[in-house]
Amino acid sequence: MKILAIVGSPRLNGNTNFLVDQALDEAAKLGAETEKIVLSQHTVNPCLGHENCASLESCTQKDDAGGIIDKFYEADGVILGSPVYYYNVTAQMKAFMDRNFFLYNKNRLARARVVGIIVVAEAEGIEDTLHTLHQFIDSVCQVGKSQRFVVSGYANRPGDAQKNTQLVKEARELGQKLAESLR
Ligand SMILES: Cc1cc2nc3c(=O)[nH]c(=O)nc-3n(C[C@H](O)[C@H](O)[C@H](O)COP(=O)(O)O)c2cc1C
Repeated sequence: MKILAIVGSPRLNGNTNFLVDQALDEAAKLGAETEKIVLSQHTVNPCLGHENCASLESCTQKDDAGGIIDKFYEADGVILGSPVYYYNVTAQMKAFMDRNFFLYNKNRLARARVVGIIVVAEAEGIEDTLHTLHQFIDSVCQVGKSQRFVVSGYANRPGDAQKNTQLVKEARELGQKLAESLR
């Protein structure tokens, strides 16, 4: 079983990346093959919006999005992790989401059977951000709400999430639940 995590925070030492690592660590302990893609370490351009996807063999943009999306579509379980930026996902996560439009246009669905969502904010906007991510999941795969595991909490400076023992526990449990659901 393969679990792929997509991280939308540009801070490698940040809270989202840390919590996603916690989840993946637990999933790996239960036998999952895990991989994490930090979007800011790759080139994922915004969608160009020509809406010719259906007539094209492949996306016209030659960046890293195609390879990342292929992995995303093939994973048994996926985790989406994003901080809240202005009441929503980060630009990196939004670009990734929009680039999925190519396969959406071809009526292709990701094969994930279970989804984890991790969202971190300083103070406000978690509900809006979760709504965005749930709507995205609704359009890319057939994973119902009962097979989605969500962790969200408050943290701001790098290291804040580490000090929040409840948040760390919840992230680790999310990883366990994903792996157990795939057994
Ligand atoms: C551009 C920008 C916009 C932000 N917007 C919000 C916001 O709307 N609500 C909020 O509570 N925190 C906001 N934050 C704070 C981050 O969500 C917070 O620092 C979070 O811990 C960052 O996660 P990371 O450490 O994983 O990068 C914003 C931060 C940045 C840099």
